Amino acid sequence: MEQRLKEIRQHVLDQLKEVRETAGLEQIRVSALGKKGDLTGILRSMGSVPADQRPKIGQMVNDVRQTLESAIEARQKELRRAEKELRLKSEAIDVTMPRPERSAGSLHPMNIALEKMIEVFVGMGYEVVEGPEVEFDHYNFELLNIPKNHPARDAQDTFYVDDNIVLRTHTSPVQARIMTTRKPPIRIICPGRVYRADEADATHSPVFHQMEGLVIDENITMGDLKGTLDEFARQMFGQGISTRFRPSFFPFTEPSAEVDLTCANCRGEGCRMCKGTGWIEVLGAGMVNPHVLEMCGIDPKKYSGFAFGMGVERMALLKYNIPNLRYLYENDLRFLTQYR
Ligand code: PHE
Repeated sequence: MEQRLKEIRQHVLDQLKEVRETAGLEQIRVSALGKKGDLTGILRSMGSVPADQRPKIGQMVNDVRQTLESAIEARQKELRRAEKELRLKSEAIDVTMPRPERSAGSLHPMNIALEKMIEVFVGMGYEVVEGPEVEFDHYNFELLNIPKNHPARDAQDTFYVDDNIVLRTHTSPVQARIMTTRKPPIRIICPGRVYRADEADATHSPVFHQMEGLVIDENITMGDLKGTLDEFARQMFGQGISTRFRPSFFPFTEPSAEVDLTCANCRGEGCRMCKGTGWIEVLGAGMVNPHVLEMCGIDPKKYSGFAFGMGVERMALLKYNIPNLRYLYENDLRFLTQYR
């Protein structure tokens, strides 16, 4: 029996060395110390042990039990610690790991250009005003000195909603609306969408954006217009960029001018972008026609003013050196997200 006890003890101690998980440990414990375990079996068979040897054997059984219990407990502690370490390792968060790419939206290049344009004029004391895109013929044409059957109506390829209502062909009707409702001094810009029945190509779209400017006060001159647009050109495109006025015609301004900007690409040297001229045509402008002032209820003997209208897309193309209007409308994120 002594021999058997030693065997049991050694067997369990060997098993403890082998076991790698706390779950297996429990099995070892049950098979040695459990109700049907080896050690319990020995206690059961104590009856067959001669009476004088029983205390000694009993003592030995207890010793072995104690030895095994503490060995199991020690091993359990070891295994638990190892298992915990493993778990912590697998759950560990590496705070130095780069985060996954998170895409933030970016402004459309045309909006960036428009915001800059607005910022420049607001900085000069202008107020931003908006008007309807579906407009009365009256504001889009009549009050701007473009009567019915005037040839200028053809040039603008108008979308008519009915005889009296059009999709506005320019932002100038907002001038007319403001002049008929406010008293000078007036200093406004009017950005917005405009419509023309144009075929879409590299520089044309049936829907595009303009920004109108209007100043009316006493003693406003063409010099004020020139100075204002020069300052705008400088702030928008940088030092060394100015404007050149060429005589032109608009029914609502007199005199009228086509205004060019120094080509920002070659700074006036002449390049492909400006077709060798050093200048790029960007806007229409002029002194508000006295007849328009009068129709809108402003006394042309007391007041004078200037107006200008520029394409927003055109400004964006120039500012970012974008070769084709199409890029602005295709919504290709690879293109759009380059501009911030
Ligand atoms: N409305 C004109 C156009 O669309 C531009 C312009 C505005 C010209 C104001 C002169 C004064 O072409």
